[in-house]
Amino acid sequence: MDPILPDSLTDYLDALLPERPAYMRAMEAYAVEQSFPIIGPQAGRYLAQMAAIQKPARIFEMGSGFGYSACWLLAGAPDAHIVCTDTSEDHADKARDWLTEAGIWEHVDFCVGDALELLRESEERFDLIYNDVDKEAYPDVFTLSLERLAPGGLLISDNVLWSGRVADDTVRDEATEAIRAYNRLMFTTPGVESVIVPIRDGLGVTRRIQGVVHGGDGCAQ
Ligand SMILES: C[S@@+](CC[C@H](N)C(=O)[O-])C[C@H]1O[C@@H](n2cnc3c(N)ncnc32)[C@H](O)[C@@H]1O
Repeated sequence: MDPILPDSLTDYLDALLPERPAYMRAMEAYAVEQSFPIIGPQAGRYLAQMAAIQKPARIFEMGSGFGYSACWLLAGAPDAHIVCTDTSEDHADKARDWLTEAGIWEHVDFCVGDALELLRESEERFDLIYNDVDKEAYPDVFTLSLERLAPGGLLISDNVLWSGRVADDTVRDEATEAIRAYNRLMFTTPGVESVIVPIRDGLGVTRRIQGVVHGGDGCAQ
């Protein structure tokens, strides 16, 4: 992933970040060693801040990897319960180890499988959904998440600027087109308010507005 901001600004922002707990530093080092894409500390702090403002009781995370982004969400909302999901059993095992070390495993229910299927099967409403699955699924994630968000709930998706490829008309691959479709949905769907925050690879933040009926499940609040 190429960051959206110039390297000089990324370095500047990184230098401003306060020290992180040792387990977070260790997870970041492990991600570098494994060349595994995690959200990183700048976007992680943004997730924590959104969670602190939102005060979610229930969080659903789609594409948890080995648990780094979940650490940030729980750092912002330490009393929340989070359902983490990933298709990889190995990631789930690693997440249990890291999140136990972080002392937050008791707040986590880690489900192995397709995040969209797991969310579809869930009968719960969530106050915050964080999405980081394979990009081709993003439009379906948007529609499904709105059906599962509590009124006033937040949907946050990573990578909505996709290293700038969304703005390059010559790029036509499936992942880029899916993210473009997701971004259009963010700004054209009734009953939601959205903003794109251009830190790291772009975070799409959508709030389901209370009192508005959205398409899909027909639930009026
Ligand atoms: C970018 S990594 C996640 C990183 C994590 N959110 C973080 O920042 O620490 C994406 C993860 O999503 C998982 N994944 C991709 N598509 C998925 C799907 N449809 N359902 C569940 N997990 C999925 C991959 O196995 C991978 O671990």
